[in-house]
Amino acid sequence: MSKPVLINKKIKNFKKKISISGDKSLSIRWALLASQATGKSKAYNLLISEDVLSAISCLKKLGTKINLKKNYCEITGYGLNSFNYKKNLTLNAGNSGTLGRLILGLLIHSPHKVKLTGDKSLSKRDFSRVINPLKDFGASFYQKKTNLPLYIQGTKYVRPIRYFENRGSAQCKSTVMLAALNTPGKTFIKAKKSRDHTEILFKHLKIPIKIKKKKNFDLIEVKGKQNFHAFNYKIPADISSSAFFIVLTLLSKKSELTIKNVNLNPSRIGIITILNKMGAKIKLKNKKIYKGEKISDIFVKSVKSLKSINCPSNINSSAIDEFLLIFLVAAKAKGVSYFKELSELNQKESPRLKLGSKILNMMGIKTILTNHSIKIFGQPDITLNKNIEIKNFLKDHRIFMMSSIAALSFGGKWKIHDQDSIQTSFPSFIKIIKMLGGKIKNEI
Ligand code: S3P
Repeated sequence: MSKPVLINKKIKNFKKKISISGDKSLSIRWALLASQATGKSKAYNLLISEDVLSAISCLKKLGTKINLKKNYCEITGYGLNSFNYKKNLTLNAGNSGTLGRLILGLLIHSPHKVKLTGDKSLSKRDFSRVINPLKDFGASFYQKKTNLPLYIQGTKYVRPIRYFENRGSAQCKSTVMLAALNTPGKTFIKAKKSRDHTEILFKHLKIPIKIKKKKNFDLIEVKGKQNFHAFNYKIPADISSSAFFIVLTLLSKKSELTIKNVNLNPSRIGIITILNKMGAKIKLKNKKIYKGEKISDIFVKSVKSLKSINCPSNINSSAIDEFLLIFLVAAKAKGVSYFKELSELNQKESPRLKLGSKILNMMGIKTILTNHSIKIFGQPDITLNKNIEIKNFLKDHRIFMMSSIAALSFGGKWKIHDQDSIQTSFPSFIKIIKMLGGKIKNEI
């Protein structure tokens, strides 16, 4: 267990320009797809965090040639279905739901049983959501209940499927897309809206894909068994990591922040839509398109007052990793905010809807919580001067970082455990806090 941090001072006003590390979803997808390409792919600004390193280590165990130097990475792929490994292989996905689920899509041909494990948090998460469609492709699974560890064994006789994804889960959709890549014939997916990086990459790689965008769903058709060439990628900054500093700026007095070169894919910018509805004035500058992804700089400044929100649930999937932060903003907004149809939040690295509510209650904020919704009674003048200790949160990186932002924004004396959790997605989080002038110390 890593040492707790102590925060007992609000951050002073700041005006800064910062860069944030590479996008996690794109870093993992680049590595998985590069392993299926033919030739040497290169990535610049790859996120170097435990989730991405787990992806690299799983791919190496599957026989992929990888050369990683700081955040530059080369992967040599030998085409579809070219993994080369011996019997009794165990892959460890660590903390990463994205890796644990997506990699199964690449194993539906596996000639041997492969064991998939993960850390304590990942081992509690639901895998039936990807096991079921992959069984339809022809793969076999052996597991207790619906969790890890599990064993997958593929088949030579994979067949394309029709799949209905109704949770709004990009992980489920992408797992099926990766399985389709390696399957003869056409796989049809009807998917509730969710992040569409995999679709954008398929198009960029000229993998045969057709997409029809409907109001609430996308209809996706993937034609499999078409090899594609290696590709280079300069990974833009992660909006989900940027969000911590957007909210810190918004909740602090007289502060301004520019974050450079952030991936602002429309399926990821729910946080910006929601915060602007609550009274923020976040601006996007230097907009450009890179390999189908929208990129720009984000400019945010503090505001004097924030409004509550009755959050439309069709925004949920585009802000799914940012709700803990949005709850903090609601804690300072005037009025009662309402967030609904959020049961998926309890399926993350920790039960985030429940724990988010618990942390607000520790701060003295009233909430009404159900299994799928939360009402937050905002206190615009909130300042804390009590002791708050955050522990036993399954080392969820976003709980650690949300609590740190709360401490720096609202004051009080906070002791927050498991600082190592930031290694999964955002190892430079504490360094950036210090750069902005925040005081965060290790407990001695
Ligand atoms: C991700 C999808 C989301 C998100 C996760 C990353 C991805 O999960 O919460 O952090 O890269 O596809 P779900 O697809 O399960 O909602």
